[in-house]
Amino acid sequence: MTSQASEQSRVKGTGNTLPSRSESYSIPSDERLTPDKEASTVQKVNEGLFGKFLPRTQTLVDMANRTLPSIILKRKSIREAADEIDKTITELNLAVDIDDYRLLPGGHWIPLSCNPRWKVAIVVPFRNRFHHLPIFLRHIVPLLKRQKLEFSIFIAEQRNDERFNRAMLMNVGFVEALNFTNYDCVVFHDIDQLAINVKNYFGCDNMPRHFISGEAIWEWKLYYEDLFGGVTGLTKQQFYDINGLPNIYWGWGGEDDEFANRVKAKDLKRSRPKGEIGYFDSIVHERNESSPFNEARFCLLGNIGQRRTTDGVSNLRYEQPTIELHPLYTNISVNIQKLPWNPRWKRC
Ligand code: BGC
Repeated sequence: MTSQASEQSRVKGTGNTLPSRSESYSIPSDERLTPDKEASTVQKVNEGLFGKFLPRTQTLVDMANRTLPSIILKRKSIREAADEIDKTITELNLAVDIDDYRLLPGGHWIPLSCNPRWKVAIVVPFRNRFHHLPIFLRHIVPLLKRQKLEFSIFIAEQRNDERFNRAMLMNVGFVEALNFTNYDCVVFHDIDQLAINVKNYFGCDNMPRHFISGEAIWEWKLYYEDLFGGVTGLTKQQFYDINGLPNIYWGWGGEDDEFANRVKAKDLKRSRPKGEIGYFDSIVHERNESSPFNEARFCLLGNIGQRRTTDGVSNLRYEQPTIELHPLYTNISVNIQKLPWNPRWKRC
C-alpha cells in the first residue's frame, strides 16, 4: 500500500473521510511536503538524514551526554534561565558541520550560509508516542532547515502515570529550553501534527501565532475558529507576560482554551496563516485510556481570571528532569506532580 493510500484508510477508520486531494488543495509541488508516515524508527531517520555524518555525530552526542551533568549542576534554580549549555557544548568543540548547517548535540541546528533571523525552540509535550516520534522528526527537521532557521527540538516527556498534563509539560519545556540557548521564541508542537506547506514559516514574526488553518481530518477546516491547540508559538517575552500555561489541567482538553484566553487578556493579537499555507496532516491514532478527558475542564475554564497570574510559570516547580541529548532532539524527561492549591482558586 502506498503511504497515501494507507493514510486514507487510517483516516477512514476514524470515521473521517479525506476529501480527494487533487480537488481539495493545490499547493505547488515544490512547496508541498509529503509526510513520510512509513518512517519507522528514529535510528532509520538518523541514517537517512545524516548519511555518512552519522557515526561522527553519534560520537559527539555521546561525549556531550557525558559532560552534561556537570554543566547542569551549575544551575542555581529552575527558573533561572542559565543559557549556558549550548555555549559550553560549543566551547568543548562538540559541534559537527553538515552541509550548510552546524549541528550541536541535542538537535540544535545553526545555518552556516546566512545569519539566521530567529532562534526557535520547538517544544513537544510527550508521553509514550514512540511510534510518532520518527515520523515527526523526519518531517519537521527538513522543513525547518529549508526555512533557514536556527532551531532545536525539545521533547518534554511526562515520566509517570498521572493523567497527561500537556500544559505543564509545555511550561517545563520552555524553561528547560532557555537553559540551553536564549531562544527568541518557542513553538509548542503536538507530535501528531505535520505541516504540509513549506511556506508555513516557523520564525518568530507574527507571534502569538496559531500555525494551523485547516486539518486533513476536519476537511481542511478548524474544529472551531478560536482553536489555539496543536501548534502554537509565542515569543519568550510574551510567554512570560501571560505567565505561561496553567499547571492544573490534568487529562485531556481545555488547557489550550485557557492558553488562548491568557493571550487575549494581555491584548496580544493572535495570527494564523491563511488558507493552504496553514494546512496540517495528522498522524491518526486512537484516543487511549492514558489520556482520559479532564472532567474539571469546564469548571476550570469558568475561573480563569482567578488563576492567570498565580498558576503558570510563576508557581512552576518540578524535580530535576533527566536530560538526554540525541542527534535530532533533546529529551527532557520529568516527573511532574500536582502543585500546592492556592486557597484563592475555586476548587473544581
Ligand atoms: C478542547 C480543546 C481541544 C479542542 C479540539 C475542545 O473542546 O477544550 O482542548 O483542543 O476541543 O479537539
